[in-house]
Amino acid sequence: MKFYELSPQERRNFLEREGYITHNDARLLRLSPLLREYAADGMIENQVGIMGIPIGLLMGLKVNDKEYNVPMATEEPSVVAAACAGAKIARENGGVIAAIWPLRVIPADIVFQRVSAEQQEDFAAKVEDHYKDMVRVMQKAVPNLTHHNGGIEGVSCVPIHKGEFWKVRLWIWPGEAMGANIANRLSEAEAKYLEGLLGIKPLAAILSNAETETVTCGVDIDPKTLETKTESGLKVAKKIVELSRWSEMDDTRAVTHNKGIMNGVVACALANGSDTRAVEAAAHWYASTDGEYKPLSTWTFKQEGRKKILVGRLTMPMAIGKVGFSIKTLGTAELCQRILGAEDLWETQMAFGAVGLVQNLAALRSIATEGITQGHLKLRDYNLARAAGAQGKEIRQVAKRMMLNPKRTVRQAEIKLAEMREGEAFEDDEDENE
Ligand code: MEV
Repeated sequence: MKFYELSPQERRNFLEREGYITHNDARLLRLSPLLREYAADGMIENQVGIMGIPIGLLMGLKVNDKEYNVPMATEEPSVVAAACAGAKIARENGGVIAAIWPLRVIPADIVFQRVSAEQQEDFAAKVEDHYKDMVRVMQKAVPNLTHHNGGIEGVSCVPIHKGEFWKVRLWIWPGEAMGANIANRLSEAEAKYLEGLLGIKPLAAILSNAETETVTCGVDIDPKTLETKTESGLKVAKKIVELSRWSEMDDTRAVTHNKGIMNGVVACALANGSDTRAVEAAAHWYASTDGEYKPLSTWTFKQEGRKKILVGRLTMPMAIGKVGFSIKTLGTAELCQRILGAEDLWETQMAFGAVGLVQNLAALRSIATEGITQGHLKLRDYNLARAAGAQGKEIRQVAKRMMLNPKRTVRQAEIKLAEMREGEAFEDDEDENE
């Protein structure tokens, strides 16, 4: 039986049997939400409730020759199914190759106003001369920074708009933390020091979400693996390339193309306990760094002998953390990280980038073939079949019969299920969502 045909309890049993999670993990997942009221109250102001979001597993995502089961938290019904479909195609083609620079640096700014050209030169020289003192100030502000594999990479001075603003930019290694709190603490400490040094009061000291470090993921696809019942793989691949070109030329398409990527990335980031707004903000900033909003991924052809190969590439920042207060407080996030099984932050970032790429592939393939609505209706039929009480293979069979039915209701699914149970044999057909 396929993973999606099992009940949630059977899926947890499977994961436990296969050694992906412990018995205690399975129990914790069943008891979701893991967030206790006292912890929730300590996380935000005016807490009055706790909201549950389903966690699904993207099974068998192959990245750099390692297979992952990736927890994804999302309210959008088609996201996990699409990610599974995209990951299956990628797997059939050897998987995703990913790379990242293993020293994540985040920026934080101390900003001054109305600094004349002479002052800028003078200030920049003072900052350079006092670099060692600035490092000491930062080390005092966050003493354990270097112990946690974090640190300070450098300081630069940047004029903005002909000196209307002028900023001292700190480059910080937050180690495996997301780093926002660290960056803010460091920049605030430095602001006080610089006020004394330069004799001018800063306007603000704040991190920047413009993360310049990126993850790059690639997958090479034999078009044969994209074929559908009605269209050749090459035809589908050609349409994917055209869709990709369209998003490069039309920012209103690029934003939807990127939204599809973020469907996967944000679902992973949320399950991981990361700040999803930071992930989104950095990604969309990066998409527009050339002055025009662009797609985060591209799909092109390369020639291999007489064969065309579809080449998918994605580059984007991945502003997540692997340690930190929220991750610790949200027990589910730690559990999701255990299920993912990445050794460190960088492996996690590469896995999430790969999810973005396969999510994008699945969306473009759907648009290029049956259309998004058809896929959504299919999923709704599966849910109706489950709601009607269908089990295992019955789910697929009832869903298939629902497709021919203009009235898609639980009652109709119950009727179909009863008819089937009364004697019709099951056909064992194939489905893409494995
Ligand atoms: C839907 O959530 C995401 C898509 O619109 C992405 C896309 O159009 O590429 C399907």
